[in-house]
Amino acid sequence: MNFTDRVILITGASDGIGKRLALDLAARGAVIIGCGRSEERLGAVLTELQCISPRSITIKCDVSSREEVRAMVRKVLAAYDAVDILINNAGIGMRKPFVETPLETIEELMRTNYLGTVYCTHEVLPSMLARGRGHIVNISSVAGHIGTLNMAGYCASKFAINGFSESLYHELKPRGIAVSVVCPGPVKTGFNRTFAETSPKSPKHLIISPESVSQTVMTIIENKRFEMITPRSFALICGIKRLMPGLFRAISSRLFRSHVFPEKNL
Ligand SMILES: NC(=O)c1ccc[n+]([C@@H]2O[C@H](COP(=O)([O-])OP(=O)(O)OC[C@H]3O[C@@H](n4cnc5c(N)ncnc54)[C@H](OP(=O)(O)O)[C@@H]3O)[C@@H](O)[C@H]2O)c1
Repeated sequence: MNFTDRVILITGASDGIGKRLALDLAARGAVIIGCGRSEERLGAVLTELQCISPRSITIKCDVSSREEVRAMVRKVLAAYDAVDILINNAGIGMRKPFVETPLETIEELMRTNYLGTVYCTHEVLPSMLARGRGHIVNISSVAGHIGTLNMAGYCASKFAINGFSESLYHELKPRGIAVSVVCPGPVKTGFNRTFAETSPKSPKHLIISPESVSQTVMTIIENKRFEMITPRSFALICGIKRLMPGLFRAISSRLFRSHVFPEKNL
């Protein structure tokens, strides 16, 4: 696919994977609309973006707010007529035993990760349907396939994105709209900063770069594939889980047990 002059709306473009994607797609000729909550971070991204793609803009928007999403998409459609590609990337994380997690945190995770994706898709979709073309890419996670210890709220939000994406794929394919979902394993961004000290920790050799995820997203768009799990080692792990769920659960349960009762390892 040629990205030249494609209008691409990326949520969570002020940092991490979204920022990398915005810059990489702009370098390939796309016009980027990047959103996020922090005006300061958006301003810094905009300065970089406009050097390579002068028609690109950033918009302050909290995707967990239906009203803010509606206002953002109205503004975008008024300025650009159409969104060719929507990348639902904005997300927050958490790692804590469920019982110690305030319900407000679980609600915030669901509102941002899952409902943020739903709100943006719902606002952008009618204009894509009217044109009979478009592509929606949802950034999920390996945690949308594997229920990982101490990540119940986060996993639930990503499992929800995977189900949402698969159902939408069937609904929209006949109408000319592609739907894809990208599931990265751990990525080296600021995302994990709030729970870096909490176990279990991701093995260092499995942590990938935002550049690598950005490349995967571009590949999925170019090839119109439904799903990519990255890196390959996690694709393999998810494949094993799909084929042998009982055995997979038994092995992971043994691995995670020492983190549930760390004192027994002393
Ligand atoms: N890093 C990982 O290990 C990893 C692994 C698998 C999947 N992912 C997924 O990849 C996506 C991006 O993560 P990342 O690693 O790039 O995280 P990051 O570096 O923390 O960046 C997250 C981005 O999302 C934005 N954001 C957060 N809440 C938002 C909201 N309510 N409304 C609008 N924007 C919001 C942030 O901007 P503001 O703070 O300015 O709003 C920021 O631009 C997430 O969906 C995450 O679940 C990450």
